[in-house]
Parts: sequence; C-alpha cells; structure tokens
Amino acid sequence: MGHNTISITDNRTGAQYEVPITDGTIRATDLKQIKTSPDDFGLMTYDPAFLNTASCRSSITYIDGDKGILRYRGYPIDQLAENCSFLEVCYLILNGELPNQSQLEEWIRLVKRRTMLHETSKKFLEGFRYDAHPMTMLISCVAALSSVYPEARHVHDAANRKKQITRLIAKMPTITAYCYRHHFGLPYIYPDNDLSFTENFMNMMWKMLEPKYVANPILARALDVLFILHADHEQNCSTNTMRAVGSSQADPYVSVAAAAAALSGPLHGGANEEVLHMLSEIGSKDNIPAYIKSVKDGHGKLMGFGHRVYKNYDPRARIIKQTADEVFSVTGLNPKLEIAKELERIALEDEYFVKRKLYPNVDFYSGIIYEAMGFRPSLFTVLFAIPRVVGWLAQWQEMITDPEQKIARPRQIYTGSDERNFVPMTQRA
Ligand code: ACO
Repeated sequence: MGHNTISITDNRTGAQYEVPITDGTIRATDLKQIKTSPDDFGLMTYDPAFLNTASCRSSITYIDGDKGILRYRGYPIDQLAENCSFLEVCYLILNGELPNQSQLEEWIRLVKRRTMLHETSKKFLEGFRYDAHPMTMLISCVAALSSVYPEARHVHDAANRKKQITRLIAKMPTITAYCYRHHFGLPYIYPDNDLSFTENFMNMMWKMLEPKYVANPILARALDVLFILHADHEQNCSTNTMRAVGSSQADPYVSVAAAAAALSGPLHGGANEEVLHMLSEIGSKDNIPAYIKSVKDGHGKLMGFGHRVYKNYDPRARIIKQTADEVFSVTGLNPKLEIAKELERIALEDEYFVKRKLYPNVDFYSGIIYEAMGFRPSLFTVLFAIPRVVGWLAQWQEMITDPEQKIARPRQIYTGSDERNFVPMTQRA
C-alpha cells in the first residue's frame, strides 16, 4: 500500500479501495468506483457551499486563513502594498512575475489606451434612473460591453483575451465615475492620460469647473493601496462565479458581469456598504454593547466581521488600518472610526466572537476610508469591483488554459418525489 494513498473500506459491501492522495486531496471522481452494485452510480461527495472542496489548481493567490497570510504569486500582500503601484500588481497577477521597467511602461500605455468608453456605451448608463444603485449600473454596463466587442467571444485566442482583459481593467474606473456623475446629472469627464490610474479615476469622479483637477497624492496613493488589497482573493464567491460562467465559454464581459453580481451581495463585497449603515445605526460608542448583544441574540450579523477562510486577523484589514491613518491626516477623522475601533475591541474580547474565530475582514475599515475620501456608501462595492476585475480575469484566463477544466457542472442529491402519474386539474386537491 502506497504512502500517498488512502484505504477505504465500504462497510455496505466489505469491498476495499485504495485512492491516491495528491496535494492533500483525493479526486472526487476516484470515489465513483465505490459501488454497491454494477448499476449503482457510485459514491459522490456532498459539499454544499464548497466548505472542503478544491475546484481548481491555481498559482495566483495563496491564503493561509489560520495564520492570516495572503500572497499574490508568492509575494506577501504587505510588501506589495508598500512597494508597488496597482497596475504593477495587476501585471504580476496576470502574468505571474513583476514587470521590469519597460514591461511596466508598456502595460501602463496599453491600459491608458483603453480607458475611454465608446460614446454609445454612455447611453447604456443614461437609461438608468438617477437613483439606480451604481452596482446595478456597473453590472449592466459591463454586460452590455459584450455587444460593443463581439470578438470577445473568441475566448481561446490568447491575443484577443489579452485585449479584452486590458479593456476591462481600463474601463472599470470610467464606468464607475460615469455611474456616479449620472446620479448628480454632472457631465462626464473623459479620461486624462497624463494621470496615474487612481488620479485619473479621481479626476473623472470629482473634476468640476477647475481647468485641471489635482488629486491629493496621499489620497491617490491610499486608493492605489486599497486597490492592491482587493485585487484577488483566490476562490471566493465572485471568482467562483467568474470561473463557472466562463467555463461555458461565455465571453469575459458577461462573465465579469456575473462575477460582479455575486460580489454585490451583502455577505460578500456588499458588506462594505452594510458596515457603514451599521455604524450609522449604532450612532455612538454607548450603543455598542446593546448592538453586540442583539447580534449575539441572532438579530443580524456584525457586518465586516467573519470570513470563510480567515480564522485569524484578515491581513488586508491590518494594512487598511494603517492606510486609514494616512487618509485621515488629510481629510480629518471620520467619527465612525472611533465607533468601529471600539466595536472591534469589544467584539475581539467577547466569547461569542472569540469562540467562532470572527475577526474584522477587509470590509470592516475600507468603507470608513472611502467615506472620508468623499465616496458615497452606494459606491463602495463598485470600488471593490474595480480592482477585483483583475483577479477575476486572471482566474478566468487560468481556467480557460487549464486542460483539466471543463464546463462547471456539479451533481446533486435528488430529494424530490419518486416517479408519479400526471393528475388532471379536475382531480387535484
Ligand atoms: N456576526 C455574527 N456572527 C457571525 C458572523 C458575523 N459577522 N459571521 C459568522 N458568524 C457566526 C455564524 O452565525 C455561525 O454561528 P453558529 O456556529 O452559532 O451558527 C458562525 O459564526 C460561523 O459562521 P458561518 O456563517 O458558518 O461562516 P461562513 O464561512 O459560512 O460565512 C461570512 C462567512 C459570510 C463572511 C460570514 O462571516 C458573514 O456573513 N459575515 C458578515 C458579512 C461580511 O462581512 N462579509 C464580507 C466577507 S469578506 C468578503 O467577501 C470580501
């Protein structure tokens, strides 16, 4: 019997099986041979919500949730956040290596070439009511870009994929800024290629009548860091959606739209907006104990707390706390920060949260910073989607080029009725 195997005895039949273990996993299809009779389908695994199932091999992002480790392509997140620009990290995530100077310059040039929206694409956004949620507008607009770039459906053409990936990364800030300006009826501001990725975004968001908008460099850098922190997070809900939709060979625009839809939920990227609503509802530090009691009594969740993978402090939340200090040195303190810090202190000492290993996640502090910078809460999840599109696209590309991958199609355990005969309407109860 080999060392890297597991022996299974089927107590229903007494039959024995030896199943190989590779990379700490067994293949679910290896269990199919375990049958009680020749016409038995074979043993399956049952794993609702993928609690213990690896769906792919990936070399992009490594997380050790117990130790609070996050690395992109092997580089610790804190080193990347300290030393890189967001576009440099994009290159790393997409290509596997950090760019040299000329590679970076060429990559930035390619992104800048594609920041503009086709004039007709602006009309997609104009059809929305002024108070439409920006995340809904983003999802719809990205899906509609599929009609502008029909060649994107050739997903097995590597050069074509690269072009669409660059387009999507470049256009996300433009779409976001246009969603924002549509709400206020402000004229759209065209991208400015003299500016960095985040400065250009801030320019498209906030430029008014001044001849040249000048972004505060500390805030532009803080936004760059926040984008780095959100760029990828391995097989989370939205990335899994991207891979599942992309596995049908749907084009990257509609696949990204689906991933963004998954991100919008309050248990995922939508949590950053919910945190702000929660902090407003709490209102003052005095109300925290009562709020925590109500959460423990089962009335809602502490938004921005808990994570499927991290059972330790989310390393991104730690970096965000440092970034917050820099932002507040420019904007002045956001009073919600005091409530958030006190909420965290009390929760981390509370047996309920300690026992369940519930720590602040990336969304707990990000909204407070975004609000201080001047972003409205309804835009927070869109701000998450701008950088996460890089992770989605890198994971999509990895999936497309992985010979082991096929269309994603899970099994089920059927719990419905056995076969029965049709009952005419007149005889139904
Ligand atoms: N507040 C209070 N209790 C919580 C919280 C929370 N934020 N999160 C989990 N719990 C409790 C659960 O009720 C459960 O308790 P029980 O064992 O008594 O039933 C236990 O902790 C385990 O939680 P699960 O829901 O099983 O954990 P799961 O891995 O399925 O969910 C999730 C992870 C969705 C992130 C959850 O912690 C949550 O809803 N958090 C709040 C929303 C949030 O901040 N989401 C952002 C996550 S980060 C991101 O997606 C970018």
